[in-house]
Amino acid sequence: MPSVTEILETMDYGPAPEASGEVRAWLKARGTFGHFIDGAFTKPGKTFATADPATGEVLAKVAAGSVKDVAEAVKAARAAQPGWGRLSGHERAKWLYALARHIQKRERFLAVLETLDNGKPIRESRDIDVPLAARHFYHHAGWAEMLAEEFPGASPVGVCGQIIPWNFPLLMLAWKIAPALAAGNTVVLKPAEYTPLTALAFAEICAEVGLPKGVVNIVTGDGETGAALVAAEVDKIAFTGSTEVGRAIRKATAGTGKALTLELGGKSPFVVFADADLDAAVEGVVDAIWFNQGQVCCAGSRILVQEAVAATFQNRLKARLGKLRVGDPLDKSTDVGAIVDPVQLTRIRDLVAKGEAQGAKLHQAAAQLPAKGCYFAPGFFTDVAPANIVSEAEIFGPVATLTTFRTPDEALALANNTRYGLAASIWSENINLALDVAAKVKAGVVWVNSTNVFDAGAGFGGYRESGFGREGGREGMREYLAEPTPRARAEVAAVALDAAPVPAAPSKGAAPIDRTAKMYVGGAQKRPDSGYSYAVMAKGREIGLAGLGNRKDIRNAVEAAQKAGGWGKATGHNRAQVLYYLAENLSAREAEFTARLKEAGVTKAADEVAGTIRRAFYYAAQADKFDGAVHSTKSAHVTLAMPEAFGVMGIACPNDAPLLGFVSLVLPAIAMGNRVVAVPSQSMPLAATDLYQVFDTSDLPGGVVNIVTGPRDDLARTLAQHDDVAAMWYCGGAEGARMVQAESAGNLKVTWTLANRDWHGPDGQGRGFLTRATQVKNIWIPYGE
Ligand code: NAI
Repeated sequence: MPSVTEILETMDYGPAPEASGEVRAWLKARGTFGHFIDGAFTKPGKTFATADPATGEVLAKVAAGSVKDVAEAVKAARAAQPGWGRLSGHERAKWLYALARHIQKRERFLAVLETLDNGKPIRESRDIDVPLAARHFYHHAGWAEMLAEEFPGASPVGVCGQIIPWNFPLLMLAWKIAPALAAGNTVVLKPAEYTPLTALAFAEICAEVGLPKGVVNIVTGDGETGAALVAAEVDKIAFTGSTEVGRAIRKATAGTGKALTLELGGKSPFVVFADADLDAAVEGVVDAIWFNQGQVCCAGSRILVQEAVAATFQNRLKARLGKLRVGDPLDKSTDVGAIVDPVQLTRIRDLVAKGEAQGAKLHQAAAQLPAKGCYFAPGFFTDVAPANIVSEAEIFGPVATLTTFRTPDEALALANNTRYGLAASIWSENINLALDVAAKVKAGVVWVNSTNVFDAGAGFGGYRESGFGREGGREGMREYLAEPTPRARAEVAAVALDAAPVPAAPSKGAAPIDRTAKMYVGGAQKRPDSGYSYAVMAKGREIGLAGLGNRKDIRNAVEAAQKAGGWGKATGHNRAQVLYYLAENLSAREAEFTARLKEAGVTKAADEVAGTIRRAFYYAAQADKFDGAVHSTKSAHVTLAMPEAFGVMGIACPNDAPLLGFVSLVLPAIAMGNRVVAVPSQSMPLAATDLYQVFDTSDLPGGVVNIVTGPRDDLARTLAQHDDVAAMWYCGGAEGARMVQAESAGNLKVTWTLANRDWHGPDGQGRGFLTRATQVKNIWIPYGE
């Protein structure tokens, strides 16, 4: 024990441990935990241990969920869903409020339990995890209350399987369960194997408040249990965890009609400009990478500092690092606690050792680590080459990389040089600069002069290989609601079979010469790479030829679309101008288009052309009106929810309604600023290729719309596999839809599979298409503090 004089001299903290007696008594009384199914705990069969990573002490044994356990839980959730879904929003809100209150009532208990099971400092579980979990239930009680008004016509998805990681066990549970329940779904949730305890305590809370049985079911277990849940009869899977497992789940759910949201890893940039408040930015690093031992999907793990201030910044960062207290997570003055499990500690050590071996220099806190337990001294790397493993891999530990840049453009290039796109922090006192970078950085969440701020009122989720879907706010609610039209819902369940015919070789000299359509790539007509064409038939007669596109044509088209990036930067107003012009030009040629469609044997040709023109005006009108929102978050920020274009989209168009189907998909996509590679109706591609002249005379920049004709499913496969295609819409049969979803797993592109709709009716047009053509970026900006 230091003397009082010594303490006063060093100003060091004394130990201030949080009491854990109540939690230990609870654990002792429970002994071994079963699953929570249909409102009660099951008798545990096979079990596994969960331990305190700070000491290695086994805290409890929990059941290892089998395929049968998962099936029972899903059955209970299925049985409970209609009743729960039929309750009024107001009734469901009351339950959500009750859950929020009970979490709050047991805040200290839950914080201690979380810290014991996970190793995170009690300061964090007490001040962040548990209060945010309660806030999530409160906030979503509100959405339940207003559901009918705010989401007219929407209905619950059904039974949701939810799989969560170990880094924020209770908070991730709240992120998953609160919106699902608010929307009228029932759930089966599988917590991570290292940290199942707060989920089981939450199950007790559900029983305590008398939540109808079967609405919330918790099945514990490891990856095998998770895989069983993915394979079970659920309507949706919501997953948070590693990109690798996310990719496996994307493949496993392909073609099943199960809705899917993935919140995956990241390697998020933390950009410090020379004019930043450097002390604030240093504190930012503490919250970005040393918070929760760096085991945070959106951790600011790549620090980028402008050269002019790099030396000063690095010195201050080192000084701050020296002050971090690493140790007993239950100690209220601990900054950095224990790593969740020995397995994870080994992973971190291996990666860091590799990073050093590859030439990076590690600066680590000199903090005295406890003699036993899973501890890793926080730090950061300098001298990191771009090819170093630590520049790319998610370390998921308390170690960042620090590199320098000279200009904002260079900062952006470095920031975006990753396959991930979860979050970014930008530090500058110049609001123009900060917001300019915020607009250009590829990330789903951007914090300006702040970092790792979360709130139930804002959406959270990534771009690129960080996954898709959003949690929190209005965007998050949407993920738990089925689309309003019954027609669209049926698509989710089972896509009607629609095999496009095999392209037939043309007969020699039969087709009229003026109907030999080329491809349209980069604003110019291009011959197919294969040099071959196929016969376009109408009423048994050959009416023209279309290019037989192949992989090479798709690749060229994607390249052309990539180059047309200026379209994404154009304002909504500018895009609207071009689309209006396009609509007018179409209008002027209404009779001609109608005659061509009639000749092609299209029924309702006049209706189809009239509908096409109306649709063009509609999306021209929407181009500058489909805007975002300002979320009301709990902290002093304005949080801008900006719908952004994906970039390059692949679209495989329906076979029927060859003109209307094409414009119904392509126009909303480009209205939002995407560039498109479209595969038109396979049997009647000429309806789309007739549009070239309209595009050319409407000032549509070359490369914004590219058209490749040919075998739809082969071309769709190449699009789905292409890493530079960020989103893919596929309209066709069930097998094609499965293929597109499975092949999209490479870069985890967003997919939307549609069956052949009634393109003439309301299912063929609306804001739903614009929502699908965008991803929401949430930008947090300090406001009024
Ligand atoms: P993980 O992705 O394996 O585990 C997350 C959850 O998925 C757990 O509940 C696990 O039981 C479950 N799971 C595992 N395999 C599954 C499968 N085939 N099907 C369905 N569910 C499955 O993550 P893990 O192994 O715990 O950590 C490995 C690395 O993943 C970390 O070092 C980190 O880089 C990353 N990670 C990222 C997280 C994030 O929030 N983005 C969270 C956890 C880990």
